[in-house]
Amino acid sequence: MKEYQMQENQIIEEFNAFEAIKERISVRSYSTRPVEETLHRDLKNYMETVGSGPFGTKPRFKMLDLKPLDKKELRGLGTYGFIKGAHLYILGAVKDTTCALEELGFCLEKIILKATSLGLGTCWLGGTFKRAAFARKMNLEAGELLPAITPVGHPADETSPANRLTRLAAKSKKRRPWTELFFGPGGNTPLTAKEAGPYHDPLEAVRLGPSTSNRQPWRVIMEETGKFHLFLKENKIYNRIMGKIRLQRLDMGVAMCHFAMVAREQNLPGSWKVEAGAPAHSGMQYIATWSG
Ligand SMILES: Cc1cc2nc3c(=O)[nH]c(=O)nc-3n(C[C@H](O)[C@H](O)[C@H](O)COP(=O)(O)O)c2cc1C
Repeated sequence: MKEYQMQENQIIEEFNAFEAIKERISVRSYSTRPVEETLHRDLKNYMETVGSGPFGTKPRFKMLDLKPLDKKELRGLGTYGFIKGAHLYILGAVKDTTCALEELGFCLEKIILKATSLGLGTCWLGGTFKRAAFARKMNLEAGELLPAITPVGHPADETSPANRLTRLAAKSKKRRPWTELFFGPGGNTPLTAKEAGPYHDPLEAVRLGPSTSNRQPWRVIMEETGKFHLFLKENKIYNRIMGKIRLQRLDMGVAMCHFAMVAREQNLPGSWKVEAGAPAHSGMQYIATWSG
């Protein structure tokens, strides 16, 4: 059984994670307004001290500014037209181990939430970017993967705070309802908000998370109050389109990050562990268990 070793800098965040989770959306069009030096420094600091994922692996991150690059280099570093106007990117690499993708998903999502708290836009890119060219910029070492990157910058259409509620309502509608995602003991009946008790917000944070093509492959079974098993309901096409970089395992890391950050914020004890005798459920892959 592996235990998530919480580091000092992971216990107390200087921003409200649940607010950032509700706020974050994928931004694909960026303003020409440069990222202010203070924000740039803040984010870079956070990125450099983000630490390890739930199973103790520490991914490597790099901030890449495309501005000083020449035209030839820029042509290589494309996103197939999916991202417009961004010149700052965060690249995430990780050693190719069993839980590497969950670890990277967890840590890059923390950085993305930090960027959101600073008012900056981001967009997870696991597929639509020229991986080999970005990998060269990362100086990828033998045995390392570059699973994902994100642009960072001011959104082209900066939404005013007054529109935040409307945005949350719209986002909520694009997510599967609780009845499809969360289940009670045994995994056969949906878990109600009332049954979730104090764990309502950590579960809601999982539901609002970003995922590959918005497939939302996370399923959670509550065994008892405070004990939750996380499963992957795999979509083979979306998961395996990038070969060994299983995109839906990044989604699982994002879910673990959201649950852990909101639980921590609300003083709910626990951590993620891989349990040896974890329950099996047909059609789903077991990922990890949250318990106190
Ligand atoms: C692991 C992962 C990989 C993703 N890869 C891409 C990508 O390659 N290109 C893209 O445009 N969006 C990508 N997305 C963004 C999703 O499409 C997006 O999160 C989802 O549609 C939900 O929308 P929202 O982020 O605005 O809430 C990815 C998201 C995740 C979590």
